[in-house]
This record gives sequence, structure tokens and C-alpha cells, in this order.
Amino acid sequence: MTMAAHALYGLDLLATAVMLIDEHERVHYMNPAAENLFGLSSRNAEGTPIESLFTSSEVLGAAIGYARDNNCSYLEHDLTLSANGHGPFHLSCTVTPIESYGDLPAGACLIEFRQIEQQLKIAREERMLDQSQANRELIRNLAHEIKNPLGGIRGAAQLLDRELERPGLHEYTQVIMKEADRLQLLMDRLLTPHRLPQPSQVNIHEVLERVRSVILAEFTGISVRRDYDTSLPAIEGDREQLIQATLNIARNAAQAITSQVPARDGTEKPGEIRLMTRIARQVTLARKRYRHAIDVRIVDDGPGIPEPLRERIFYPLVSGREGGSGLGLTLAQNFISQHHGTITFESTPGRTCFSILLPVNEG
Ligand SMILES: Nc1ncnc2c1ncn2[C@@H]1O[C@H](COP(=O)(O)OP(=O)(O)OP(=O)(O)O)[C@@H](O)[C@H]1O
Ligand SMILES: [Mg+2]
Repeated sequence: MTMAAHALYGLDLLATAVMLIDEHERVHYMNPAAENLFGLSSRNAEGTPIESLFTSSEVLGAAIGYARDNNCSYLEHDLTLSANGHGPFHLSCTVTPIESYGDLPAGACLIEFRQIEQQLKIAREERMLDQSQANRELIRNLAHEIKNPLGGIRGAAQLLDRELERPGLHEYTQVIMKEADRLQLLMDRLLTPHRLPQPSQVNIHEVLERVRSVILAEFTGISVRRDYDTSLPAIEGDREQLIQATLNIARNAAQAITSQVPARDGTEKPGEIRLMTRIARQVTLARKRYRHAIDVRIVDDGPGIPEPLRERIFYPLVSGREGGSGLGLTLAQNFISQHHGTITFESTPGRTCFSILLPVNEG
């Protein structure tokens, strides 16, 4: 088959690894994704029996046999293959016998390979997405339920405060009022993400410059370095929400840095936050594929996120900080997902990197 013919089938363009074999199980064609996956060159592989390309290929052989015998598509979920020193790969594969047409050989079979790690990753991301949507609903309802009686409690305490004759008792009503106010503030913070976003064209660097100046004003002894790709396009979004989301992440970074005990000899250099922007291509965000996205990274050289917190830091009320309310990242995630984006992080002592991906809507 000529290259032009493959391009016609469109197989060259697929991100999925695909091979075509003939009736004698010899490789007739493999697409670039398959070459990449297995580290094989299609020129060398063509004409070779498929089973001899791989070590331990019995399961693959059986899948091909089954598909041929029954003349139907067969899905093998649990396949482990190594090729040419690459692997072992944990794969699923679909074998489909195809009618011969054009210059396809008689008795051809199409084999598609998918890496299971990748499937697990997608499934995990989908689960997280569902979970964070469910969380958001729960928080919203709960905050509403708490807010209403809270107003009543505070009002009643205020009335009682006026009626009390013994001055010593005012202390108690004051505690009720103060605590009710604190809870009210917390509930207000929980409910803010539900105001309707006000979209406009936002330049992400203006957002980051605002965040930078707030951080520099709030914290001393921290430097905030910029590493911007100034060619990035504007995105449509709610400026205030994007500032708030980025600020919550940057503020955590600044708090983590300043919480470190300084070295005794005083030689330690001041902590640093780096604000980075890059373009990302061909990304899938919340189940939708985009040609371009903006990748905003907030990197700090602080102590890192404590191991036991890592799985849960986006959950509400999870905090590793004295006096923290554990809402900063929950809110940041809410704001970013309203923009159809995602937040992920990597953290080791000395380097924590939060990455915000925001889709660019094109034409
Ligand atoms: N860059 C970071 N380095 C180290 N730990 C971090 C970092 N970012 C977040 N964390 C940890 O994650 C926890 C959760 O952060 P989050 O912003 O949600 O809540 P908080 O900062 O505790 O409270 P709030 O932001 O509501 O005042 C933090 O308390 C901290 O322990
Ligand atoms: Mg915070």
C-alpha cells in the first residue's frame, strides 16, 4: 500500500495506535502512533508476522484467532506486550476483520491498541469532575441551609443583649454574635462562586500582574518572578474570578514559603514564586477537546504540600495551616471550572507547581 493510500484511510492521523495485518498475520501497515508506542519502524515491521514483533504475544494471537474464527470484532481488555526493548505495555486491543477493498489484502484485520494507564487516567479525571460538581451542589445547599437560621440566631442574640441587665452576661451574647458573624462570612465565601460570571476579553497577564502586586504588598521577603509568553491570545472570562482563583493559589504559595523556619545561619535566600504562562496545544478539558489552551503556572520553592493532604486539598474545609479555613482552593477550582478549565498540581519539598489550564475559544 502506498503512503497516499494510508493517508486516504486517515489512519496516519489517528492518535490511537493501529496496525493492519494480512491473512498470514503479517504486518501490512502500522500508523505513526503505533510506531511511537512500540518504538518500531513501520518500514522494518512491514511483512513481519505480528507475533514475532512482540515478546509474549500469545494473548494477542488468541484475540486475532477469535476475531477471525467468528468474523467479528473482538475486544481484549488485558494484554501485556513488549517490543524491541520497549514496554511492557499494559494494553487493551480491538481486533476487527475487514472486508477487502481497494488495495487492502484479502483477509485483513485491523488492530487498535490503547494503553490502559491512559484509560485509567481519563476515568479518574472524569470521576474527579463528577465529584467536584457534586461537591459544589452540596456546599451550595448546605451554605444556604446554614445561612438562614444563622440570621435568626444573630438577631435573637442582639435582642437578648439589649434586654440583659447584668453586664457580665453581655459577654455571652457577644460570643454568640461574633461566632455567628464568623460563620456568616464563611457561608458568604462559599456562596460567592454562584454569582453569574461576567465575561469579557481578559488578558491573562493583567490578571497575573494584579496577583503579583497583591502578593508583594501582603508578604515581605518574597520575590515574584515573571516568565510570560506575551504572544498568548486573550481569553473570554470573568476577570475578577480569574484574579481570585490565581490569587488564592499564589497566596497559599506565599504562606507556605513564609511558614518555613529560617536557617540558623541566616544564609537562606528569600523564597520565590514564579508566575509562568505558556500555550498548550490539543488539550482535553472537562471532556471537551480544544486546539489551544493557556497554561498558567504558579511555582513556589516552599516546603511542599504535606503528603496526607495531597488527595484532598481541593475539598472544602481541608487545611494544613493554622487558622486556614480550607476554602481557597475549593473556590479557585470552582472559578476555573466555570471557565471550563482545570487546576492540577505537582509537589515535592522545594518545588510546588500549580497549573491552571484555560481553553482558548477559537472562532
Ligand atoms: N503551595 C503550597 N505549598 C504547600 N502547601 C500548600 C500549598 N498550597 C496549598 N497548600 C496546602 O493546602 C491547604 C489547603 O489550601 P486552601 O487554600 O484550600 O486552604 P487554606 O489556605 O488552608 O485556607 P484559606 O485559603 O481558605 O484561607 C493549605 O492549608 C496548605 O496546607
Ligand atoms: Mg489558601
